[in-house]
Amino acid sequence: MLDMGSETFFDKVADGIAQSGYLVLPQVLAPSLVGQLQQRLGQHASLTFHEASIGRGRQQQKNQAIRGDRICWLDGENPIDHQWLSLMEQLRLGLNQRLFMGLFDYEGHYAWYPPGTFYRKHVDALPGSRNRILTTVLFLNHQWGDDDGGELRMFDAQHQLLQTISPQAGTLVIFLSERFPHEVLPTFRDRGSIAGWFRVSNSHYGF
Ligand code: OGA
Ligand code: MN
Repeated sequence: MLDMGSETFFDKVADGIAQSGYLVLPQVLAPSLVGQLQQRLGQHASLTFHEASIGRGRQQQKNQAIRGDRICWLDGENPIDHQWLSLMEQLRLGLNQRLFMGLFDYEGHYAWYPPGTFYRKHVDALPGSRNRILTTVLFLNHQWGDDDGGELRMFDAQHQLLQTISPQAGTLVIFLSERFPHEVLPTFRDRGSIAGWFRVSNSHYGF
């Protein structure tokens, strides 16, 4: 397993971004950390499930036709979330050194997709918005089967299908946020992931 904090890892990610703009990296994370993150997601799932069941406004119905996941933002104060955030911090610095991307910070959330839910095709950043630059998606599902659904489908800018990715525990997908439409196909099992975004600061466009 490639050490996520190593120079070799940063080189590999930087090359992938420079060459094709996206990478799929199976088994990047120690199973023990995947297990801890999974457990955290389990705790959040019951919490956010409660929140999601409150209110049945028009906006909520509209959202659910687009995405059915329940989310919970990572919390730097929590020691387990902190481990993932510090790996992302190292990656941020490693990429800035290699590609001069000027990545400023990282935000991420746990996502829990109950059976029957999906996330329709979308892009994570509107072209030109220059806020979310690079997306990461880490999957947290042990022994995901071919019939379990919930695949992440990646498209190129012309909406040609590039790849269909099984959301196996420990697989990390990284892509340029503006360039790659993607979708989560309907899942037949509870499906967990951590989605996150490296951002640049917009402050120099403001006052
Ligand atoms: C997102 C997203 C994919 C996933 O949250 O924007 O595309 O597999 N997530 O969680
Ligand atoms: Mn997305």
